[in-house]
Amino acid sequence: MTIQTAWQWGYKNLQKKSTSASLDTEVLLSFVIKKPKEFLYTHPEKKITARQFKKINQKIKLRSKNWPIAYLISRQGFYGLDFLVDKNVLIPRPETELIVEEAIKTIKAAEENKQKIILIDIGTGSGCIPITIGKKIHSHFSSSSASGKKSVLKILATDISSPALKIARHNAQKHKIKIQFLKRNLLGGFLNSPILNSQSTLIITANLPYLTAKQMREKTIQKEPRQALFGGKDGLYYYQQLLEQLNKIKPAQAIVFLEIDPAQNKKIQSLIKKILPGTQVEIKKDLAKKDRLVIIKI
Ligand SMILES: C[S@@+](CC[C@H](N)C(=O)[O-])C[C@H]1O[C@@H](n2cnc3c(N)ncnc32)[C@H](O)[C@@H]1O
Repeated sequence: MTIQTAWQWGYKNLQKKSTSASLDTEVLLSFVIKKPKEFLYTHPEKKITARQFKKINQKIKLRSKNWPIAYLISRQGFYGLDFLVDKNVLIPRPETELIVEEAIKTIKAAEENKQKIILIDIGTGSGCIPITIGKKIHSHFSSSSASGKKSVLKILATDISSPALKIARHNAQKHKIKIQFLKRNLLGGFLNSPILNSQSTLIITANLPYLTAKQMREKTIQKEPRQALFGGKDGLYYYQQLLEQLNKIKPAQAIVFLEIDPAQNKKIQSLIKKILPGTQVEIKKDLAKKDRLVIIKI
């Protein structure tokens, strides 16, 4: 069998099941034969082995049962970096780049002012948020090392899921970013930790499960872990818990970044007002001009 026949066969089997059948077939085919997509166009006559065809067949079948492409090729791009993903972690979304961007701005400003910084990413999943932040901060400070500036960022990341932490550790190693990964229920276990009451500026990032029961019915998310998506009746169960933990911990100085669903804007602001009165709150919009990020200054 040639690339072209496998390609046509894959497309034929997917066209009624996927709205992106053509692209899906290309991506799966090039993944299985371990060649860039351009190779498919320039060498359609090349033969593929029976083993490769069997593998393509398996992946096309899974795709037709709505398995996301990212799981089928075990990778997802995020903020220009490549992350290993599997069914135990949420597939990183483009809208989550906003939390990374805003946290980077804050960390750079704090470091310019020679403050020590501790970043804790809660619900880290694939580790995409702290790894990307670490990577960008690291390259920023190594490129300005001629001016004598040195990054003083310490990174921790938590998740309740052990399999997710395993993937996150792998990604951190791959991108050579030093992160302490901990299995925790949100900030639980940090209650009396000196980390939170040190002289350092504390930055917390969290993209916690925030979908409602109704949103959970969406077809495209069925293969992703429920534990990564479902945020209780109004989607704010975990954020409420986290705000209550922060109220108990009372860190000396902290900036907290929370990704939300745009519809939660008002409700989360009133929760913050109730649980953490007197804190400064700002809402940022994503590229689609939707309220996506809450920034709390404690
Ligand atoms: C929406 S996913 C986000 C993953 C990743 N941060 C991202 O942006 O792609 C939420 C993550 O929170 C984790 N999680 C759920 N409940 C948690 C809890 N109580 N404590 C810590 N992590 C939790 C899930 O396992 C999942 O990895």
